[in-house]
Amino acid sequence: MKVLVVGGAGYIGSHTQYELIKAGHSVVILDNFSTGHKEFIHDKAKLYYGDIRVKDDVDRVFENESGIDVVMHFAAKIVVPESVKVPLEYYHNNVEGVRVLLESASAHGVKSFVFSSTAAVYGEPSKGVCEETDIPAPINPYGETKLACERMIKWVCEAKNMNYMIFRYFNVAGSDESLKIGYKRDIATHLIPLAIESVLGLRGPLSIFGSDYDTKDGTCVRDYIHVSDLAYAHVLGALYLSKGNKSEIVNLGSSSGYTVLEVINEVKKVAEIKYNLDCRREGDPAILIASTKKAKSLLGFTPKYSLLDMISSELSFRKKQVNK
Ligand code: UFG
Repeated sequence: MKVLVVGGAGYIGSHTQYELIKAGHSVVILDNFSTGHKEFIHDKAKLYYGDIRVKDDVDRVFENESGIDVVMHFAAKIVVPESVKVPLEYYHNNVEGVRVLLESASAHGVKSFVFSSTAAVYGEPSKGVCEETDIPAPINPYGETKLACERMIKWVCEAKNMNYMIFRYFNVAGSDESLKIGYKRDIATHLIPLAIESVLGLRGPLSIFGSDYDTKDGTCVRDYIHVSDLAYAHVLGALYLSKGNKSEIVNLGSSSGYTVLEVINEVKKVAEIKYNLDCRREGDPAILIASTKKAKSLLGFTPKYSLLDMISSELSFRKKQVNK
């Protein structure tokens, strides 16, 4: 397959290009390097610099690269609390970006679209465990923008005779075994990267946001998945679409929930960490766990890495970056 990875220099996009190349596929990348890194581009990938909200940038890729079978979209803003503060930036980047990309891809005869969506579309699920058939009810602008994209993709793909795979990610962490790519942002925004920065002395003690949730220890429960597992699922998803199968929405998680305190206990197995209890953070649901039955039955996908693997690989990657 020839795959256009939009946002391929970012955290999840770069891991996906690595998995695609490992599986023998041809990769083209479009990225504006807003949060991505040039050194994350695989030697075998072809890079275009550009912004998906600028139609000429996107058209240029399709005009130069004939025969793109699948487009994968990773070029989104993803920080829940930031989305609460600056919702319009999220609508502009996430929704308008996908609109332009779909317009250009469909005009250039692309047949399949793989989209990075999120568990945030489920909102505050009453059972905690999210099934793809649950009615989406986001509780923050980030989730709303992703849901708006999901719906746009459905209508556009139906109209243009394309098939699509919408992946709803749960909490992604870890680094590729090569340690060449990993979580690298100026300001860490997610639990495991923040915990690792505390471990490495790059920040003070980790704050636990809320200890009065209705969970076993009062802290929020999340479902963590290794970024390499998640990336590999995209290869399976693209292959599934390339065989002409019908469009689907699929959760990508592990179906196990860990509280924030349990995550800290896993960190303690490999390093010392200081933390304190803080107040709740805006926009956080208490429990989010994926039902993974569909990923397994449809794609034969089961994650192979554990939470400890995520923490250890991310710690190794960050140590390597700090020592550069
Ligand atoms: N947390 C802390 N301290 C921190 C950072 C996070 O206690 O310093 C807590 C959060 O409050 C939350 C949990 O750790 O309970 C996980 O938070 P993250 O910021 O790591 O991740 P989120 O759960 O907010 O975000 C993830 C994905 C999103 C997805 C969202 C659904 O990154 O894509 O889950 O809520 F939309």
